[in-house]
Amino acid sequence: MAPPPLAAVILLILAVSGASHPLAQGLDSSPAGADALASSPFDEALAALQKQIGYAFRSPDLLRRAMTHASYSRENGRALAVLGLATSQSAAALRALAADRDASASAVARAARDAAGEAACAAAGARAGIPSIVRVAGGTKASAAPVVCGALRALVGAVAVDNGTADAAGEVFWRLQVLPAAPATAAM
Ligand SMILES: *[C@@H]1O[C@H](CO)[C@@H](O)[C@H](O)[C@H]1NC(C)=O
Repeated sequence: MAPPPLAAVILLILAVSGASHPLAQGLDSSPAGADALASSPFDEALAALQKQIGYAFRSPDLLRRAMTHASYSRENGRALAVLGLATSQSAAALRALAADRDASASAVARAARDAAGEAACAAAGARAGIPSIVRVAGGTKASAAPVVCGALRALVGAVAVDNGTADAAGEVFWRLQVLPAAPATAAM
């Protein structure tokens, strides 16, 4: 982790000390400056998303990574999405067999495929407001199904890693399936 930039540290000290120091005029004359340090729109969207999915991250960095597309940064959600897909399939297969222990292999496979497939996944991601949260490079559409779906799977995987269990991730996965259409911006 990089240390905070020196200017940010100075601004913070000045904000705490009432910004009466003469240096304050040169560095920051607007009261909004201190607020801007506190949180970015991305961080606010991540906070709203956590409320929406009913899970608070111990390591918010995992959530940041999940909501970052490979086009944007080398530190992205791709590996988390692999885990998220497997976890979603596992949750769907478990639900199918818990409902009917005599379910056929093809019925269980279909349940896993349908619940975790790209169509359901992209729809759930859109309801969660992921297109307006996920960070992509210019030229990549944040609302494209593979992007939304990848981010949603990464979110489920991130919960599993953060929690150390697949159970919490399975719960979030099912909650995501029944979320009402409410973009993160409306959840504030
Ligand atoms: C895992 O998730 C559950 C349900 O959200 C929570 O109660 C528990 O504290 C979490 N455990 C860890 C280690 O994060």
